[in-house]
Amino acid sequence: MSKIISLTNQKGGVGKTTSSVNLAASFAVSEVKTLLIDLDPQSNATTGIEDLISEPKGSIYDAIIRGTSTKNVITKTKLDFLDIITSTSDLVGAEVELVGLMAREYQLEKVLKSIRKKYDYILIDCPPSLGLLTLNALTCSNSVIIPIQCEYYALEGLGQLLNTVRLVQKNLNPNLEIEGVLLTMYDSRLNLSKQVAEEVRSFFKDKIFQTIIQRNVRLSEAPSFGKPALLYDANSTGAQNYMTLVEEILSDGN
Ligand SMILES: Nc1ncnc2c1ncn2[C@@H]1O[C@H](COP(=O)(O)OP(=O)(O)OP(=O)(O)O)[C@@H](O)[C@H]1O
Ligand SMILES: [Mg+2]
Repeated sequence: MSKIISLTNQKGGVGKTTSSVNLAASFAVSEVKTLLIDLDPQSNATTGIEDLISEPKGSIYDAIIRGTSTKNVITKTKLDFLDIITSTSDLVGAEVELVGLMAREYQLEKVLKSIRKKYDYILIDCPPSLGLLTLNALTCSNSVIIPIQCEYYALEGLGQLLNTVRLVQKNLNPNLEIEGVLLTMYDSRLNLSKQVAEEVRSFFKDKIFQTIIQRNVRLSEAPSFGKPALLYDANSTGAQNYMTLVEEILSDGN
């Protein structure tokens, strides 16, 4: 059965895109059929795997707002098990354009309906806001992964995010679950990282992934080559952390 997971946190720069891209690549090399959707007008997930794309198709904006058929916006990548729906800066306008549509929170669900069965996992890289794009993502998702950066103020804004998840569960998508909270950019040399990890653990208890994503320079270098870390330096700690996370997700029977 296909599963849709949104990577979301309205806080900027916490590792949503890095996690989306590298999880998607790790699923794909594990021969799990995966679709990555870039739902952020910044298009970082799109540029982050640009090297794997030879024939770009339309974008998520085309599908949601222009009504382009979904099959015409799915771009194949060099990895057999990975497709992507790209984003362009047009998507900035979608937040406003969606407001005028009927069933405005269900537009992404409509877009994915005809193709979701083709994939084992669909991963959605959300923008750093809780606007209509993110609401569309949460409405069509089975679960959310919440990346949290091991830095000061890590828990700031999480109340608002959890409240949004609850509102979506109540009004738009009763089946939405929290897949897990993912600690990112963990630096084992820093007491701060350890403190933040403990604080997050005491807040989220068993909702937290056992796998922790360490701070690793390869993860920050890889996007400038348009590649996931796995295809840039497969043995790097960062690439390996995301492989371990995929194992954890798959072994949970999800
Ligand atoms: N584990 C890591 N180790 C080192 N650098 C990282 C790691 N994870 C992310 N980064 C870097 O941190 C920055 C922010 O990460 P990323 O773009 O994934 O966050 P984001 O939550 O998607 O940001 P935004 O909210 O702007 O969409 C990027 O420069 C990225 O390369
Ligand atoms: Mg991002």
